[in-house]
Order: sequence, then C-alpha cells, then structure tokens
Amino acid sequence: MLPVILRTERLELSIPGADDIDAIFAACQDPEIQKYTTIPAPYERTHAEEFITRVAKNWDEGTEVTWALRADGVLAGVASVFGLTEKAPIGEIGYWMAPGMRRRGLLGEAITAIASYALSPGGLGLRRLQWRAIAGNRASAAAAARAGFRFEGTLRAALPDRGTQRDGWVAAILDDDERMPQDWAVLAD
Ligand SMILES: CC(C)(COP(=O)(O)OP(=O)(O)OC[C@H]1O[C@@H](n2cnc3c(N)ncnc32)[C@H](O)[C@@H]1OP(=O)(O)O)[C@@H](O)C(=O)NCCC(=O)NCCS
Repeated sequence: MLPVILRTERLELSIPGADDIDAIFAACQDPEIQKYTTIPAPYERTHAEEFITRVAKNWDEGTEVTWALRADGVLAGVASVFGLTEKAPIGEIGYWMAPGMRRRGLLGEAITAIASYALSPGGLGLRRLQWRAIAGNRASAAAAARAGFRFEGTLRAALPDRGTQRDGWVAAILDDDERMPQDWAVLAD
C-alpha cells in the first residue's frame, strides 16, 4: 500500500523518513514516551534508523500505517494504526508527541483525522479502531476521549511493560459511532 498524506488545520501527516531520524531520536529520550510506549529504553540513534526502515516496509505490506505529525514542517509527534490483517477489519491506534509540542491540541487533530481515514471505506475501511494504554495514562486517555473513543474497560495485567505486565485501559470507535467527545468515568477525578 502506498503511504497516504493526511491534513488537518495545523498539521500535515506524512510518512517519516531519514530526515526525521534526529527529531525522533531526540523526542524518544523523553521519560514519558519511554514509560507509556514500547519503544526501546535506552533509546539509541540506531533505533530511530531501524524505525524508519520498518515504517516503510509496514506501509508497503499494509500491516501498519505510521505518520509523522508535522506542524510548520517541524516533527511534533508520530502516530500509527497497527495490527492490520486481512482476517478482520480492526486496527489499533498508538501515538506520542514530542515534549515541547504537547498540550496544544495537535494530537487531538491528528487522532480525529486518522480515525476518519481508518474507519472510512475509502481509507482503511475498518469496522473498529481500538485504543489501549497503561491504566493511568490520563493524557493519552483524555485525547482519545475527546476524539470520540468509547471507554470499554480495564484489562488486567494485559500490557507488557519492560519485563512486567500492567493493567490496561481499552477503548474503541466503531465505524458507525458518532465522533463526539466522550466522558470517561476513569477521568472524572
Ligand atoms: C499522550 C500525549 C500524546 C498527549 O499529547 P498532547 O499533545 O498533550 O495532546 P493534546 O494537546 O491533543 O491534548 C489531549 C488531551 O489530553 C489532556 N492532557 C494532556 N496532558 C495531560 C496530562 N499530563 N494529564 C491530564 N491530561 C492531559 C489535554 O488537556 C487534552 O484534553 P482536553 O482536550 O480535554 O483539554 C503526550 O502526552 C505523550 O506523548 N505522552 C507520552 C507517550 C504516550 O503516552 N503515548 C500514548 C501511549 S497509549
């Protein structure tokens, strides 16, 4: 499958390439990204180089689609839909934002555009777009809730985290769900 470019009010989403390696390497030093994603830790420059190669291969094979989120040409973050197979029209979203680019609603714009692409027949044609996070990742959860993901529950000891298993929150949007901000009880306090 050929890489697709998506656009939002403030972002262009396009495949990350060799020019992004420095920015990805720098961002992935962030403790929050290391805490809440499965990137290697410590994160070396070679990991960013391998990531770029893998992203191109995954687009080609249609197993995972990954975008660099660019604000005025600067890499603000990275987001993917992964777990794509021909067996079932489902996929899962994952993302991180560079520390200096957070809390501007940029990720929200990106999630909305990605969900729309993932769930439309002219895009990935998914029936279900899933989101999971380590329980307590309130920033990720707030972004997913605002984009319309419905909270579905807590998965006990479901998510691997550097040699241990953590409880996970799970949520999803279906193709025929209204894309409206949701109130999640776990975010109430
Ligand atoms: C999760 C992450 C991508 C959010 O990025 P962001 O740029 O802050 O996202 P947005 O600006 O679009 O904000 C999204 C929502 O989260 C809220 N939020 C952001 N940081 C927060 C925090 N630390 N605690 C609680 N809420 C937070 C924002 O207020 C916003 O909610 P609102 O729209 O209801 O006001 C970013 O914090 C990050 O990269 N974290 C580390 C990696 C990670 O956790 N990835 C997700 C793994 S599942």
